[in-house]
Amino acid sequence: MAFASPYSLCPILLFLLPVCVLAQTSQSISLDSTLTAALDKNDSWKSPSGDFAFGFQQIEAGMFLLAIWFDKIPEKTIIWSANGGNLVQPRSKIQLTTDGQFTLNDDQGKQMWAANLAGSGTISYAAMLDSGNFVLESQDSTNLWESFDQPTDTILPTQILNIGSSLVARFSEMNYSSGRFLMRLQSDGNLVLSTVHFPLLSLNTGYWSTNTNGSGVQVIFDLSGSIYLKAKDESILSNITSIGASSSNFYQRAILEHDGVFRQYVYPKNDSVADGRPMAWSSQSHVPDNICMSISTQNTGSGACGFNSYCHLGNDQRPISTCPPGYSPLDPDNEMMGCKQAFVPQECDGGQDADLFDMRELSNVNWWGGDYELFNPVSEDWCRQRCLTDCFCAVVIYNTASDCWMKRIPLSNGQQLNVEGTKALVKIRKGNSTTAVASGLKKQKSALNLILTMLFSSSAFLNLVLSIATLWVVFRKRRITQPSGGIQGISLRSFTYKELEGATNNFKEELGKGACSTVYKGILAIGNNNLIAVKRLDKMVTDSEQEFQAETSAIGKTNQKNLVQLLGFCNEGQHRLLVYEYMSNGSLASYLFGKSRPSWYRRTEIAFGTARGLAYLHEDCSNQIIHCDIKPQNILLDDSLTARISDFGLAKLLKTGQTRTLTAIRGTKGYVAPEWFKTMPVTVKVDVYSFGIVLLELICCRKSFDQDAKDENQMILADWAYDCYEEGRMYMLVQEDEEAIQDIENVEKFVMIAIWCIQDDPLLRPTMKRVSQMLEGAIEVALPPKSSN
Ligand SMILES: *[C@@H]1O[C@H](CO)[C@@H](O)[C@H](O)[C@H]1NC(C)=O
Ligand SMILES: *[C@@H]1O[C@H](CO)[C@@H](O)[C@H](O)[C@H]1NC(C)=O
Ligand SMILES: *[C@@H]1O[C@H](CO)[C@@H](O)[C@H](O)[C@H]1NC(C)=O
Ligand SMILES: *[C@@H]1O[C@H](CO)[C@@H](O)[C@H](O)[C@H]1NC(C)=O
Ligand SMILES: *[C@@H]1O[C@H](CO)[C@@H](O)[C@H](O)[C@H]1NC(C)=O
Ligand SMILES: *[C@@H]1O[C@H](CO)[C@@H](O)[C@H](O)[C@H]1NC(C)=O
Repeated sequence: MAFASPYSLCPILLFLLPVCVLAQTSQSISLDSTLTAALDKNDSWKSPSGDFAFGFQQIEAGMFLLAIWFDKIPEKTIIWSANGGNLVQPRSKIQLTTDGQFTLNDDQGKQMWAANLAGSGTISYAAMLDSGNFVLESQDSTNLWESFDQPTDTILPTQILNIGSSLVARFSEMNYSSGRFLMRLQSDGNLVLSTVHFPLLSLNTGYWSTNTNGSGVQVIFDLSGSIYLKAKDESILSNITSIGASSSNFYQRAILEHDGVFRQYVYPKNDSVADGRPMAWSSQSHVPDNICMSISTQNTGSGACGFNSYCHLGNDQRPISTCPPGYSPLDPDNEMMGCKQAFVPQECDGGQDADLFDMRELSNVNWWGGDYELFNPVSEDWCRQRCLTDCFCAVVIYNTASDCWMKRIPLSNGQQLNVEGTKALVKIRKGNSTTAVASGLKKQKSALNLILTMLFSSSAFLNLVLSIATLWVVFRKRRITQPSGGIQGISLRSFTYKELEGATNNFKEELGKGACSTVYKGILAIGNNNLIAVKRLDKMVTDSEQEFQAETSAIGKTNQKNLVQLLGFCNEGQHRLLVYEYMSNGSLASYLFGKSRPSWYRRTEIAFGTARGLAYLHEDCSNQIIHCDIKPQNILLDDSLTARISDFGLAKLLKTGQTRTLTAIRGTKGYVAPEWFKTMPVTVKVDVYSFGIVLLELICCRKSFDQDAKDENQMILADWAYDCYEEGRMYMLVQEDEEAIQDIENVEKFVMIAIWCIQDDPLLRPTMKRVSQMLEGAIEVALPPKSSN
């Protein structure tokens, strides 16, 4: 029978199809079936493999959620739910009634939820499928309803999101009612993550998008663990997340979590297929990259981490919400609810009680919302005083550009910044503020204090001993914790020439060549991240041993994520080599001017990174470093395509800084600032100029000088960009670059910043710190001056 031709079975099968198919592939749930929420048993309908179950899960004491979950793992992870905002009591029932309804009724018989059937027809059976889809079908096996079409916050492999579908994040980890974030495949073809006007589901501004206006039609989650957005012609428009793990060995799910991040997770089905992964849900793929930074420009709403708090990523890449000094969490169980002032705010009716308040400093923290006044330029002290005497003022943000932003409550979009140079000064009432920073902790502590006090109150002497001991502990702790503040220089390794000869296989693979040096790829015998780039300095001008040591150690001390880290050096007679981290993605020059154009998003990230790295060299390391040779060949890209500046500190080592012996300029506007050719001092502003040119190249994806340009006016990028800017034809610069065209306001902003950077007068050029702040939107960009040429 098993080998009979399918055709011979056809007439019988047609008759039996619905029942037959279901009997084979899933356990069909017939009319009149019910499940009841009960404290003493976990009733559910399981899929044939037992991987998924549909039924009631007890979420909190005596309260049940009608849900679908992974049933074979101890976590029983929920992937769909019906009544997240409306938990039900024991004795509530889900029923497949004989009149074709699928309803959830509470213990009083009141209807709490019902499947909203598509089309006509009555249900004749239900089934929990092995894919995790729960379906309701009619007699002729048309799908009347399926959970895959009504996702909550999770999607599974084979599940598809069509135009108009959304995922809504839950409110918190264990509260399944709708939360503050939504993902939607919009009718304009963009997949967008947005905050909502909580508790409504209406959309606030988006904070992440595939930028596929007009083209996206379906989000696909395939069995190999890739989630991507597809166009009508089936091509992949945008890869969203991906974890290379097959569905046969791993359970998979992707969820818009309560923190606003869309994460993809895998869970090994058993030990033997785990392949090094833990026997738990793990995630390595998510969007957006950094939720704290993604939500910063919204007009309304709190930002990622709640009002008055500020957001940063923890080691696990999840956002952490922190209250400023003097503030305490609104809800100790849910930090994302934000913070409140734990003191009586300043009164506005007359009383000059400024001296009752104090300013506490938080470095590298900013709130983007809540501004009501800007003073510039003013000193930090003036800014503090101004806030202390202004009853509206809750916080001031002071930055290296001498801006003093006055902010009122509630503060929104708070972030811990990666760049230095901005500080928040938080106004708190003297005396009673800091004690309330963590009210949750305080309760436990005060109980402990009470016990201690009771124990010791019998003896004044013991009290004294205790106080001294406490002071001593506090003092010790200070002494131990304070000096570790700044990053100390990573100790450089000294290599022998022989070692490096071996590592580079006798200087075989050349990575690049400069005027005075050649770079080779190498492998160190030990360690796992052991690829290196070895730079051999050919024309050493510095002949003093000591000077070489001093300079390399100065370079070694710089440590910032947008700089290529120096690992060690070799200094043996005429052999002078520097050993750097190896950058797997090569130089910006090859990336930017290569075959395919990098995305606008990537290019902006590279601009941000390069600006931060330069700002660090100019202002934040112990000895100011002028790079003197910023160009795309010296900006490298690491594994994650982060911009990493290389070759800094060499100007001094090679004495180019002093002698101005630069490579030929070929009569074109290259990357070199005009003061090089004049008798003017060379300052950090030469790097600002070069950065401006690189920024234009990043915007337009072309070289600063293009001999073969179609139009003579377009040959020199700086001139052409300026013309386009003046004539308001920004789109000319980013032709055929859909993503950039959609973001044309930022393109224009970037061009304006570049124009500021390439001013002939170094004094007019902004500092790199300011450039970085303008790029990232922390400060406004003023209209650049008229062109001089
Ligand atoms: C029901 O499931 C929960 C969670 O999986 C478990 O803690 C509980 O012991 C189960 N109850 C019964 C009666 O099996
Ligand atoms: C979940 O959060 C919502 C929104 O704050 C709240 O109204 C609801 O009571 C919470 N539900 C539970 C079960 O705590
Ligand atoms: C998206 O494209 C449509 C037409 O395809 C256009 O009307 C709309 O303005 C575009 N939206 C954006 C944000 O560019
Ligand atoms: C998506 O990922 C696949 C496989 O990694 C790759 O071939 C493809 O080019 C990517 N598509 C886009 C639009 O990034
Ligand atoms: C582990 O899971 C894989 C894939 O589901 C299966 O083929 C294999 O038999 C399982 N091994 C054990 C020991 O259960
Ligand atoms: C601060 O003082 C006010 C009254 O002076 C009091 O109501 C409040 O509870 C105090 N807060 C803390 C955290 O001690």
